[in-house]
Amino acid sequence: MNILFLGDIVGRSGRDALAKRLPRLREDLKLDFVIVNAENATAGVGLNVDHARSILELGVDCITLGDHAFDQREMITYIQQEPRIIRPINFAKTAPGNGSGIFTSPKGKKLLVVQVLGQVFMKKNFSDPFSALDSVLTASTLGKTHDGSLVDVHAEATSEKMALGHWCDGRVSLVIGTHTHIPTSDLHRLNKGTIYQTDAGMCGDYNGIIGMDSHEPMQRFITGMSRGRFIPANGEATLCGVFVRVGSFGFAESAYPVRMGGALEQIIPRQPDT
Ligand SMILES: [Fe+2]
Ligand SMILES: [Fe+2]
Repeated sequence: MNILFLGDIVGRSGRDALAKRLPRLREDLKLDFVIVNAENATAGVGLNVDHARSILELGVDCITLGDHAFDQREMITYIQQEPRIIRPINFAKTAPGNGSGIFTSPKGKKLLVVQVLGQVFMKKNFSDPFSALDSVLTASTLGKTHDGSLVDVHAEATSEKMALGHWCDGRVSLVIGTHTHIPTSDLHRLNKGTIYQTDAGMCGDYNGIIGMDSHEPMQRFITGMSRGRFIPANGEATLCGVFVRVGSFGFAESAYPVRMGGALEQIIPRQPDT
């Protein structure tokens, strides 16, 4: 079972890169599942209905969100009609939508997707991510109730992400971080078999500041004052994520990072297909 996970899609350049590359990737990598984080796909803040629909129409099986889940307010109602969109499981007790879901491929393979928010250095106080994950992972068994599983750890601190990775070790196929928008180079297998990477990186223009045009963030850093709004950088995006091939017991047989197009591809060559 071949899975592609892509990190936070930022603005138009991220959406365009996905539209340009995903249909071909889906064929070339013989993908059974494509999961993308799209919490910044609409003008850098949240995800509106039009953009959600167009991302799903490209062949995406599941969209995860994040702390920006409901920044576009129409998502509050849309997520209740669209089970392919997953919001963080510990966002709020009253949040609409689901924090996890099991998706079935045309070949009948089942993938569990869960998203969880961290608590360290986040702007809002979210509830305990460890017990939230337990509530899902103890109710199902990798290799029995589903063929593979992915946990999107949406958090700021690398330490907390690693702790959540170890919490899931041996219970899920892949733990992948999102939210910081910078890909980390620590893709590896944890002791009990789970594949882990601290952050997938964003699908956005790396010639900005975490996907935003650098002018306003620079002004805020230099002066401590807000002068305007953040707007997404509009250069070519790098598509960033992880490819995982999951075997018959639910654990990965192989995995490699994906970094295609834009500024990052100029430095790091594309990994060979396996
Ligand atoms: Fe985020
Ligand atoms: Fe993000």
